[in-house]
Amino acid sequence: MPKSDDRPIGVFDSGVGGLSILIELKKLLPHENFVFLADQKYVPYGEKTKKELVNLCVNITDYFVKKYDIKMMVVACNTATCYSIKELRQKFKIPIVGTEPAVKPAAQNTRTGVIGIISTPATSKSKTIKRLITDFTHGTEVINIGCQNLENVVEEGDLSSSKVKALLDKYLSEIKNSKADRLVLGCTHYPFLRETIQKRVGGKVKLIDSGKAIAKHTKFLVIKNRFKNKQAGRGKTTYFTTGNAQRFSKVASKLLGAKVVAFQAKL
Ligand code: DGL
Repeated sequence: MPKSDDRPIGVFDSGVGGLSILIELKKLLPHENFVFLADQKYVPYGEKTKKELVNLCVNITDYFVKKYDIKMMVVACNTATCYSIKELRQKFKIPIVGTEPAVKPAAQNTRTGVIGIISTPATSKSKTIKRLITDFTHGTEVINIGCQNLENVVEEGDLSSSKVKALLDKYLSEIKNSKADRLVLGCTHYPFLRETIQKRVGGKVKLIDSGKAIAKHTKFLVIKNRFKNKQAGRGKTTYFTTGNAQRFSKVASKLLGAKVVAFQAKL
């Protein structure tokens, strides 16, 4: 019988968006311990260069490995995955799960042959998104929109103000005026805007994010690597931010619907 492994799983994003992935991870892996880090000192990642992103992501992974002895890392950020996953996997020995926009299921399930993708400016221009489109959307029309500032409103805990609606109307207009019936939420902040987005694009457009798929893959790797935490009770999650801990705690508590008390991380 393999032993129980109580080391935590590291999860990070530029900000609160990664919590949308953490929610799914905790549902599928309730006995695991997690350390979550929001790199809010440097949010938004969507407007950074590859070099900057690789540096930030390497530093965070290094911090988690050295300070918390994580057994695995989940990069709960599409932008960070697009620009740094290769370098992270080269540098660190632990298994690293990335988050990529759910282009494949959208293209597989569209009935109209038109799909939309919204993501950060960096993700929308990345080689990764180009590869996903080339590999999985043959014969499908793709409307690929990079959105500035959408992650920032979620960072403020603002999910449905007139400012948010105006931003969404701007970015979703092309998709709304098309035959698209699938919309990929290609940034982990966007699932928190789901209701507001759904109202803007109408009920015929199905919104697709990667949260459940990431959790499923993480669970698969936990089992494969014999990393299972066999404690009977629920796992513990510790939250960190490189920004303001009080501010993160307030917004995270709102998004998770449960009290979060975060700590300041000094990398
Ligand atoms: N949540 C991140 C993503 O999935 C990035 C948001 C940002 O910092 O720009 O891409």
